[in-house]
Amino acid sequence: MSEAVDIGPNIDPRIFDSEEFQRDPFPIYKALRDYHPCFHDRFHNRWVISRYWDVDGVFQDNESFDRGVYEPDGPYEFGTNHVFGPNILEYGNSNEHRRLRNIVAGQFVGQKLNDFMPMIDQISAEVIDRFIDQGEVEMTTQFSSQVPIRVISNMLGLPREDEDTFVEWYQLLIAGLGFGGEHMARGIQARNDMWDYIDPMIRERSKNPGEDLLSRICVAEIDGNRMSVEEVKGFVALLLAAGGDTTDKAIANMWYHLLYTRPDQLQDVIETPELWDDCFTEMMRFDPVVHAQFRRTTREVVIHDEVIPARGGVVLYLGAGNRDERVFKDPDTFDIRREDLHMGRENRSGRYKDGKPGHLGFGIGQHFCMGYAMARQESAISCARLMERIKNVRPKFADHPGISSPSIDSGGFRSPQELWMEFDPA
Ligand code: HEM
Repeated sequence: MSEAVDIGPNIDPRIFDSEEFQRDPFPIYKALRDYHPCFHDRFHNRWVISRYWDVDGVFQDNESFDRGVYEPDGPYEFGTNHVFGPNILEYGNSNEHRRLRNIVAGQFVGQKLNDFMPMIDQISAEVIDRFIDQGEVEMTTQFSSQVPIRVISNMLGLPREDEDTFVEWYQLLIAGLGFGGEHMARGIQARNDMWDYIDPMIRERSKNPGEDLLSRICVAEIDGNRMSVEEVKGFVALLLAAGGDTTDKAIANMWYHLLYTRPDQLQDVIETPELWDDCFTEMMRFDPVVHAQFRRTTREVVIHDEVIPARGGVVLYLGAGNRDERVFKDPDTFDIRREDLHMGRENRSGRYKDGKPGHLGFGIGQHFCMGYAMARQESAISCARLMERIKNVRPKFADHPGISSPSIDSGGFRSPQELWMEFDPA
């Protein structure tokens, strides 16, 4: 709950690669906001944006900032450079991006999402059954990393007996994202194995669709236009990371901050389980899983008197904007009852009827997270189910919070590496 310390105006850009920054980026974020709101990081050849309204402004401005990960006239071939294979993240702001997004976005909201709710309940119960008698659990390996990927596997309609294999591919693929070399090679191998596995399913379900998500993605059409088999495969691989790994870490972050940062509010959540929803929102502000997003300028842009040339690399620190004292009162306090934050469902405009600013943790604008509703529901439901089954929950290593405190991993996501807790079965 402590204020981020003022470290003064001198920022050595090598700090961004340090362990110190990965463990606790908040003092650097504050220095960026206060002294260099548009920081020209000459070491990494990029510009760093850290204030809330500046991050919002870049997200909203598609004319000047693109997400394209490749040089428009460079030698890049779509889908060749990524562990996921061809996927929506590579399309930048183009019409191709809109086409792919429109085909699939509807699958993750509204009634289509509600149809999957009973299954989230069931999977959560099964995962909890595996450790409930032990009186302790390491949350990241036994709970948070188990629920989302099993939910996705079931949403896709994969046979339940193959679920463990699917979880294994997922773990290899995620490890391949963050680390290079051998991990990357194993990640790509796992992706290929998974693709071989789903290839016949894609072809079959395109002809005879069922109610599962894979069928729905295969046959979803915009203007008579479906995804190609390769695009479906790329999207399924992306789902594992974009939908599995992020939600996994969101769940861990919520428990970490309730257990270690606000045990008083843990009691509130125990007494009023509906508060998981607000806990999710405040976690997405205070310590979101995704701390940074990247953009490239399409033309010369001036921000806070800094001239960013066309094709300049821009880093948006969502985690810094979310702690902007110009927008949120006591921004370094985790408070699920905060009144100056829009609580509840997000939207891609980032503007809300209650007039309050939302968190930046799902991005804003054209690339606003497609799984925003699913991540929230899944996190709130699985955590509420766990809380019903346990009582007297407490950190196992209360004296050593360091072993489990959040840090940014090699894939750029921030969450605890380990999170042990003890409890009595309810
Ligand atoms: C707490 C969990 C999650 C977090 C923190 C998160 C975060 C984000 C962020 C920050 C973006 C914006 C990227 C940008 O602006 O360039 C994004 C986009 C995206 N998210 Fe999520 N996400 C989460 C859960 C999910 C889930 C469950 C799904 C699965 C449906 C999902 C699918 C996607 C996709 C496909 C995009 C790309 C959208 C586009 O480019 O149009 N995410 N997410």
